[in-house]
Amino acid sequence: MSIVEKFVSMEYGPAPEDPSEALVWLDRHERRFGHFINGAWQPPAAGGYFSTADPSTGEKLAAVAQGTAADIDAAVKAARAALGAWQALSGHARARYLYAIARLVQKHSRRLAVLETMDNGKPIRESRDIDIPLVARHFYHHAGWAQLLEREFPGYMACGVVGQIIPWNFPLLMLAWKIAPALSTGNTAILKPAEFTPLTALAFAEICQEINLPPGVVNIVTGDGTTGEALVKHADVDKIAFTGSTEVGRAIRKATAQSHKKLSLELGGKSPFIIFEDADLDSAVEGLVDGIWFNQGQVCCAGSRLLMQESIAEKLTAKVRERMSTLRIGAPLDKAIDIGAIVARVQLESIERLVNQGVAEGAICWQPPTPLPSRGLYYPPTLLTNVHPTSIVAQQEIFGPVLAAMTFRTPREAVELANNTAYGLAASVWSESINVALHAAAQLKAGVVWVNSTNLFDASCGFGGYRESGYGREGGREGLFEYLEPAWFKHAPALKPAKLAGSAAREQDADAAVPTIDRTVKLYIGGKQARPDSGYSIEVRGADGRLLGEAPLGNRKDIRNAVEAARKAEGWAKATAHARAQVLYYIAENLSQRGEEIAGRLAAAVGREQAQAEVRTGIERIFSYAAWADKYDGAVHNPPFRNIAIAMNEPIGTVGIICPAETPLLGFLSVVMPAIAAGNTVTAVPSEAYPLITGDLHQVFETSDLPDGAVNIVTGRASELLKILAEHDDVDAIWCFGDEASGATAKALSIGNVKQVFANEGRAIDWFDAKQGEGRWFLHHAHQVKNIWVPYGE
Ligand code: NAI
Repeated sequence: MSIVEKFVSMEYGPAPEDPSEALVWLDRHERRFGHFINGAWQPPAAGGYFSTADPSTGEKLAAVAQGTAADIDAAVKAARAALGAWQALSGHARARYLYAIARLVQKHSRRLAVLETMDNGKPIRESRDIDIPLVARHFYHHAGWAQLLEREFPGYMACGVVGQIIPWNFPLLMLAWKIAPALSTGNTAILKPAEFTPLTALAFAEICQEINLPPGVVNIVTGDGTTGEALVKHADVDKIAFTGSTEVGRAIRKATAQSHKKLSLELGGKSPFIIFEDADLDSAVEGLVDGIWFNQGQVCCAGSRLLMQESIAEKLTAKVRERMSTLRIGAPLDKAIDIGAIVARVQLESIERLVNQGVAEGAICWQPPTPLPSRGLYYPPTLLTNVHPTSIVAQQEIFGPVLAAMTFRTPREAVELANNTAYGLAASVWSESINVALHAAAQLKAGVVWVNSTNLFDASCGFGGYRESGYGREGGREGLFEYLEPAWFKHAPALKPAKLAGSAAREQDADAAVPTIDRTVKLYIGGKQARPDSGYSIEVRGADGRLLGEAPLGNRKDIRNAVEAARKAEGWAKATAHARAQVLYYIAENLSQRGEEIAGRLAAAVGREQAQAEVRTGIERIFSYAAWADKYDGAVHNPPFRNIAIAMNEPIGTVGIICPAETPLLGFLSVVMPAIAAGNTVTAVPSEAYPLITGDLHQVFETSDLPDGAVNIVTGRASELLKILAEHDDVDAIWCFGDEASGATAKALSIGNVKQVFANEGRAIDWFDAKQGEGRWFLHHAHQVKNIWVPYGE
């Protein structure tokens, strides 16, 4: 074909990237890699290797060590040994190491991009222009955090030794998202790459050697799920950070329940891509190409559910089909390719299975007539229409180049459809009206919302999910908290068991108070006093054994009612921060007015001095959270694009709280007030030692304009009520302040809907000390950050 002819047809010819440098590198390692432990290559303890192959050709690239528990143990020991010296370095010294890594990533960027593409099957255009530049950016950004850490995070310290497990879809980028924040905050790490894509992590190990990173600070142990499991279960790991499937995320939560390991989970998604009728349709279609066909759709935040306003659906699907027909599918190393290979055969089969199921459920499948390469693992770009919102292809993560399209009539319906999955990772909203777009963004249950854009990432902006997409954030200031803990908390002593009252259950007398009993309180649900479903109560005794009164023995039904009331009170989240602050001030005012009588009663349980102090400090604590309510601001991030990302601090939803036993009033206020100041609604189980505080609290709340259901109180056996709360799928988070066993129960049982758990890990918190008992640490757990990316500027 002549140049003129080519110019007219605008056809692409192949433009393959030269793989020779990457191949030389593989050959230099004789195509066989051990683990990278303590700064050196180590053969696997049990001697096993597995192959990693190029999915576009099936050719074996290298043999990689299969890690066992012994390898993991060696890596953990190295990381532990390196920890002290690494932490003793100045922030500046750590910043220099991170900076050096960033520089070398840039220097080796072409080799890394080629290796990534060969190992994963993603188009070289993406690994070269997106993955690797973002890796470098992540290390630069976090070099900056290392530099500023002491000033910006006073009172916090590193978790310690962290175990990190990553998936195969963005191998080196996920490594960067894990290792950069860990190192900048003074942790040492053991990272396990995914079994399909270990090569760039091994190339990264070499970069660590090249910059003379102290041995043991970064360890890379390769292997499959069993290697990951050994890391998760290792007793000397302080934190686990995981990205991958929701199923494995649940298994990890369960496996770490009995430990104090901090946990962050970045799991799957089924993210909506919402196009309103006033959108710029051509831009939206280009967005869609990035949203679902980027990386063959193997993206946790892929815009895999297309929600179109009915009036434009026909026109839009025609445009989408037309654009799909121009997508080029082929050898990933070809620079002119849009869609590369699927990472592995099991993944390809899983995509095929899900699409077939969707079609069996009534979806209409359309694929462009573009031929697929004759060898290698490929799946064509696919559009499914006529998809019912409950269909498997509308609910389950396919993790392939498959778009499931649905329609909506009104913005309200769009939001309802968008939120109609168990996930909540990301969303993309297209409209030329800023009102329509931002109104939708505010209502979407997703950790990231892109307005008139999609799949934008930056080291300065947190990324992470709502609901079953996991918890914790990666990137930005919010991401650093995942690798830090308050220094006092790390060293806090074990909690001494609170003296529990005598507590034989007895049948409750319907109305009349038994003469010898001073008080009988009721449950507080939906703003009303309620009798317990069981009809039983527990006797509450004072420090001297005297019977002080009776409190209801709450059960499953009571918790269900309380959670339902809390869910109905979600309007509390929409109240302005000023309005919430006002209500908290009223609560403080009313507590202050009744302070003496409340302290008088509480004194029988905790002694006069503590009772008075609890009231006094309690009032102060409420004031603090009233103050915080309109000051715990989000942020505006400045990523290096024509965008701003508005990091909104949003409430988590409905929180189940087991209150501290040892300080019945102050403990309750210290945990419930930050939760409601943030706009959450609460079902609280008060101190089992003195549940009679419920009567006083209910009177205070009732006179304080707190909306019905914003706080519900169910008394009874804390350990039993905790189980019910943790298993309840309409509770979004559990806060558990009790002994070690109750923290473990909370974590183990909260896996159903992947609740986040905030627990004291069996440690004592001095609730009278404001440094421990109040502030940002609680507020951090009371919120989840939503990053809304908005195009801005020229
Ligand atoms: P996976 O969740 O099994 O694997 C992710 C990582 O976890 C890998 O390094 C793996 O070796 C490790 N792992 C597996 N089992 C483990 C265990 N019990 N304990 C500790 N670590 C363990 O994901 P997989 O099998 O690669 O993909 C399956 C599906 O998961 C995909 O089809 C996709 O739907 C989803 N997925 C979601 C990702 C996301 O970023 N949200 C990433 C990868 C997969």
